[in-house]
Amino acid sequence: MDKIEIIGGKQLNGKIQISGAKNAALPLMITSLLTPDTLTLKNVPSLRDVNQLKRILGNHGTDLTVEGKRANGSQYAGETYHLTARDIVDTTAPYEMVSTMRASFWVLGPILARCHEAKVSLPGGCAIGTRPVDLHLAGLEALGAKIELEDGYVLATANGGLKGGRVTFPKVSVGATINVLMAATLAKGETIIENAAIEPEIGDVANCLVKMGAKIEGIGTKTLHIQGVTNLEGTVHSVLPDRIETGTFLMAVAATGGEVELLGAAPETLTASIDALRSAGVSIEETADGLLVKRQNGQLKPVHIETQPHPGFPTDLQAQLMALMTMADGRSVIRETIFENRFMHVQELARLGANISLNGDTAIIEGVKELHGAPVMATDLRASVSLVIAGLVAKGTTTINRVYHLDRGFEKIEEKLGNCGAEINRISE
Ligand code: EPZ
Repeated sequence: MDKIEIIGGKQLNGKIQISGAKNAALPLMITSLLTPDTLTLKNVPSLRDVNQLKRILGNHGTDLTVEGKRANGSQYAGETYHLTARDIVDTTAPYEMVSTMRASFWVLGPILARCHEAKVSLPGGCAIGTRPVDLHLAGLEALGAKIELEDGYVLATANGGLKGGRVTFPKVSVGATINVLMAATLAKGETIIENAAIEPEIGDVANCLVKMGAKIEGIGTKTLHIQGVTNLEGTVHSVLPDRIETGTFLMAVAATGGEVELLGAAPETLTASIDALRSAGVSIEETADGLLVKRQNGQLKPVHIETQPHPGFPTDLQAQLMALMTMADGRSVIRETIFENRFMHVQELARLGANISLNGDTAIIEGVKELHGAPVMATDLRASVSLVIAGLVAKGTTTINRVYHLDRGFEKIEEKLGNCGAEINRISE
């Protein structure tokens, strides 16, 4: 298993190209199941989760071609995929495939909508809480699906096809919103989704669906109106920039000091995170090409933050912010309200010398003068990258084990940071 070794203490200076968003690329690839035509996706990041989804879609009958290198193409430009699900040849998503990645559960809505039946294993994914799927299932039932649970599988049928309905989510869910939205595009009649999640990745998926011929109103708001159509067509769509990768690099530079321009970043997708960092004393400016982040001198100020659905501070940046606040001048308080078990990084950060105590859903972080390198274990995707941030600042060598978690969601992270002066290397075993 690969490890990452970091010798801390170097400032970051230079430019980093932001990749396409993992959490948009995955559902966008899944929308290809809604049409027999070819969906072309540009700016697809090269990640383990994307590779896993390729296998899952292939099992349902999707043909995939990936464009090769192009003259003058940047190595960070993202890939172009052509996805064609001419026929869905298998409506089952088996346990072996779905168990490692939660987003693969989102094939349920599209397959059910197109084939009127689907059998999908209950999902796995990062170990950050119980993560039920009740909202997905209730939403599809509101569109007329009959749902049964059998041997760890969801069996969904819709004789005669799905019918539009009203879905009011009692809790905001990114995945349930996407699943029901995709299904509703091919249902008969109108669907109204209330209390929909408004994460930018959902807007990206909805905009792509509209280009495919779906009729969706209210994109970017908490109420979506979808008029079902009989078929969708192919289109060309570019995956939006990754706001979590952007926020992660903002925090890495805030931690090490230096000056880095994040090329292609979309500031409007992460205003709460930018506000939090500015309040900590980090300089962040918009440029013609993205965002410029600087921290030249002075200690970081502590923050009080609570994670919230978009447009609030994202749970996917909570671990990274905590790593940063271990070095602040005073006490920070971070409350996690989305997932109940998303503090696995706390004990690993403590190994580097951080002073963090947990009280239920709240972490209290007392800033320390210095962190010290140590061997640590990556436990989930965002926890892993918080250890990278801490390792970049810690004195001496930090070795991060189990970096396959990192490879699920960060494209070429060692290269991107290494090009800006970090001493970071992958050790393959
Ligand atoms: C998406 O997960 C993201 N995954 C997560 O990113 C992200 O942390 C999360 O949204 C919140 O922003 C992808 O986009 C692939 P939810 P999802 O449904 O859809 C509860 C990362 O690191 N819930 O919005 O699974 C749930 O337990 C990942 O990139 C139910 O109770 O999250 C949680 O407490 C990790 N019943 C809350 O809702 C349900 O049926 C929000 O979860 C569904 C969810």
